[in-house]
This record gives sequence, C-alpha cells and structure tokens, in this order.
Amino acid sequence: MLSKPTVFVTRKLPDAVHDRLNRDYVADLNPDDKLYGADEILERARYADAILPCHTEHFTEDLVAALPDCVRIVANFSVGVDHCDLEAFRARGIVVTNTPDVLSDATAETAMLLMLGAARRAGEGERMMRDGSWKDWSPAFMVGTAITGKTLGIIGMGRVGQTLAQRARGFDMNILYYNRSRLSPELEQGARYCATLDELLPACDVLSLNCPATPETRGFFDAARMKQLPAGAIVINTARGALIDEPALIEALKSGHIAAAGLDVYVTEPGGNTDIAALPNTFLLPHIGSANRETRDAMGFRALDNMDAYFSGAPPGDRVA
Ligand code: DGY
Repeated sequence: MLSKPTVFVTRKLPDAVHDRLNRDYVADLNPDDKLYGADEILERARYADAILPCHTEHFTEDLVAALPDCVRIVANFSVGVDHCDLEAFRARGIVVTNTPDVLSDATAETAMLLMLGAARRAGEGERMMRDGSWKDWSPAFMVGTAITGKTLGIIGMGRVGQTLAQRARGFDMNILYYNRSRLSPELEQGARYCATLDELLPACDVLSLNCPATPETRGFFDAARMKQLPAGAIVINTARGALIDEPALIEALKSGHIAAAGLDVYVTEPGGNTDIAALPNTFLLPHIGSANRETRDAMGFRALDNMDAYFSGAPPGDRVA
C-alpha cells in the first residue's frame, strides 16, 4: 500500500482489532462507543476510503445514496447484512463484505444454551432463585421437557446450522433440515433433508431458525407455520428477529401450542419485545449470539482481512455486494 487508507469504524472494537487498525490504516475509531445516526455517519464518512460498521448501523437506500464518493468498501463486523441495502450498494459500486465462519461456533453454542434454557425452564428457575420465591420442591415442580433423543429441525443449514447440528448430535438429537439446496452427504452427516417446510415443521420437537433475514424470509414464521409444529414444540432463534411474526408467537406461547421459546434476536433491537418478556415460557438473551472474546477478535480480524485484500487489489474473500 502506498499511503494508508482511511477507515471510519462505527463502534468500539476489541483492543487487538484497534491495534491492527492503527497499524495498517488511518483509523477513525469510536472509543466511547457512541451510536451514530445517519447524519453522523455521513459526516464521519466524508474522508473515509472504507467504513467498518456493525449491524447497529442501518445502511438504507437513502443513506447509501448519500455516501461520499471516497467510500469504496463497507467491511461489516457481522455475518448478517440485513442492515445493508445491498442493491443500493451495488448501484453505487461500493463493495460490501461480511464475517462468516468465525462466529459459527459461538452462535451454535448460544442456540444450545437457548434450547436447554427454554426446554428446562431455566429463566423461570433463575428468576425464582433471585427473587427468593423458591419455597418448595415436589416431583411436579418446574418440570420441563427433555431434548435428548428428540428431533431438531433446522431452517437454514449454512455454517451456523451445520455447527448446531454437530453440537445437537452430542445430545443424541435426530436432525432434520430445510435449506435452499440440499447439502452433500459429507456435510449432511446423517441429517435428513426436507424439501419443504410442510414436511419439516410437523416433525420437529425443537425448531431452530438459522437463515438470514431477506425480503423472502422476513416474517415467514407466522401463525400458519407455527400451527404446523406439533403441540408442545420449542422454538429457538439466533438468526434475526425479523424472521418471526412476534404477535403470532405470543399467541402460540400463551396457548401452549409452542411450549417455550429461546430467543436471542427480536424485531425491535435494542429493547426486544416486552410482551414476549412477560411470558414465563420464554428464555431470552439480548442478541449476544457471537459475544465471546475469541469470536469478537476473530470477527474484527476477518473484517480487516477483507479490507486488506481490497486495498491490495485482491478480491475480498467475503464479498456480498
Ligand atoms: C452477526 O454477525 O450478524 C451478529 O448478529 C452480530 O451482528
């Protein structure tokens, strides 16, 4: 590189990632982790060759259209890119990348945590211990559902879905999956492919959503789809809140048709859904699927690898637009 490219980093990233940014780029960092709105993004992008954002920044069609011409690449610190209007980026000729692979283990761990937490009523139990309301024990006390040996249906058998399947096999779960295309037998590892949701849903004891939020998948998990699950099924979502019709989920949880839900993501973030939070049969986390130290470092490095490739004239490995 002749002169160092300038990169606008929208959020505070791990120290090791800042070190590499400061070494290789002229980095406009955000040490106070202020959440920038569209106007501030435009202001700070004025001299940037690159932007390194998170999913918390929403690159709408209008914002992308207004980005200054100096911005040539948006290297996301996320695998999900539903916060980016990719068509608008393509129209501007701005390269967009994401960070796949490096968060598959962390997200699959979180999915297992949600599955166990929802099935074994961990949220209720934890609250009881904290508010001092544990007064009794009986054979009928806090009885949940076993997951060992049950059937797990995975919608979206990409890297996270495949890793989750591997972890769930440790619980002797039988794996079914629905995906845009069938995987090779080596990747399936014995999981059964369902060509339609109509085939998958009625067979699931636990359903895990692991597909991206796109115009086609937004709100697809609606009341009609929920009814296709067997009574007493458990639903897990570590992908994006927008996949679920939340009012329909609330009704299904209230009726008990869905016995419990374990959720890390919501239609409205931050904050989540207070009506979901009011239900005892939910086990809830605040979008921390990839939040461990190792993974956060790896996400930052992956975003930097993509920028390094781009500025050295090579194609970035994780280009999505
Ligand atoms: C991702 O990488 O998409 C996670 O949801 C964090 O943004």
